[in-house]
Amino acid sequence: MIIEVKDVREMLAFGKRLAALLKGGEVVELIGDVGAGKTTLAKGLAAGLGVNEDVQSPSFTISRVYDARDGLQLAHYDFYRLQDPGIMTNELQETIHDPQTITIIEWASIVSGVLPSDRLTLSIVPPTESTRRIIVESHGPKSKRIAEAL
Ligand SMILES: Nc1ncnc2c1ncn2[C@@H]1O[C@H](COP(=O)(O)OP(=O)(O)O)[C@@H](O)[C@H]1O
Ligand SMILES: [Mg+2]
Repeated sequence: MIIEVKDVREMLAFGKRLAALLKGGEVVELIGDVGAGKTTLAKGLAAGLGVNEDVQSPSFTISRVYDARDGLQLAHYDFYRLQDPGIMTNELQETIHDPQTITIIEWASIVSGVLPSDRLTLSIVPPTESTRRIIVESHGPKSKRIAEAL
């Protein structure tokens, strides 16, 4: 499925719409070049999950965890600068298997061996400076349910 968004506001709204469908235990993988809008989408998701803090790209810290609605947590990863995936494997294993945590990952390819097959993959392509195309792919029953409801 492909979703077209015409500006930043619509990208944030897409993140909020996705947030409304999440129950905890889901993994969302964001694919796209620098500036595609991965962090912007994550900000919309965080807002929709009731995160009060300002969400920034965790490129330097690699991971950030936020308190969200209903006792859930949002774990936001950015592996752009990660050289050695080994140092993150344990934390990531715990996070993705925690039913109270929603995990969203930028630049996930370096840890692809650790990710569950049932994840939602969102690939962002920028046809113009302000529009974005989001290609939605699901890889199992949990992510399929979300993709179909989007
Ligand atoms: N429709 C859009 N959706 C998301 N970002 C957009 C859009 N149009 C323009 N932008 C701009 O593109 C940039 C995306 O940055 P960011 O979300 O940090 O990308 P990434 O995390 O993929 O590197 C921001 O400067 C944002 O304002
Ligand atoms: Mg980013």
